[in-house]
Amino acid sequence: MENRRLVIAVDGPAGAGKSTIAKKVAQKLNIEYIDTGAMYRALTLKVIRSNVEIDNVEEILKIMESTSIEFIDNHIYLDGTRVDEEIRENIINTKVSFIAKIKEVRQMMIKLQRKMAEYTNVIMDGRDIGTVVLPNANYKFFITASVEERAKRRYKELIEKNNENITYEKVLEEIKERDKIDSTRKIAPLKKSPDAYEIDTTNKTIEECVDEIINIIEGR
Ligand code: DC
Repeated sequence: MENRRLVIAVDGPAGAGKSTIAKKVAQKLNIEYIDTGAMYRALTLKVIRSNVEIDNVEEILKIMESTSIEFIDNHIYLDGTRVDEEIRENIINTKVSFIAKIKEVRQMMIKLQRKMAEYTNVIMDGRDIGTVVLPNANYKFFITASVEERAKRRYKELIEKNNENITYEKVLEEIKERDKIDSTRKIAPLKKSPDAYEIDTTNKTIEECVDEIINIIEGR
């Protein structure tokens, strides 16, 4: 019989609510959740820790070759160590887009991501999942929200994590900058796949968005 697995691709800009929504959908459908942004973040963390400049592509690629990134029980491991919290620091937010636009980095991540989605029922979120990584996904969603709303959410998140030096204006500026780099880069830019359902989360609760997705998948 043909491939009958459930493969769901979720894309959208930073702070739109992708991960929160995808995680809940995964729980409800009892399928695997893969946060591909976390993978780019993990490599960024390693580059920063290695004191390599973010534009030193040659060194970054060397680091990448000796790096292992894996998910175990929904936690991300960098070279065998769990780094869920470290990859959410604001320093990573400001640098990760530079790493994510390197061609060889994307090639390696895409390979890893396809492997992760090879045999299991999965919901994967990122920027290029429906367009590049899993173009044959059964369902594709593009999750958006206004840039101001996204900045508000990221700001709140950072304040809750005691990033006291941050201001809303600074977060807004950083998100705009990240949007620009993510959507104008040459390889696999952030883009809605023509066959993706678009969900605008600006004025909706997480639960409403999760229900909308489940209803579409269950054909209601
Ligand atoms: O979703 P996030 O904020 O954790 O993503 C971190 C960065 O990684 C984001 O700036 C864009 C990049 N990214 C990407 O280029 N492709 C993906 N599939 C996922 C994330």
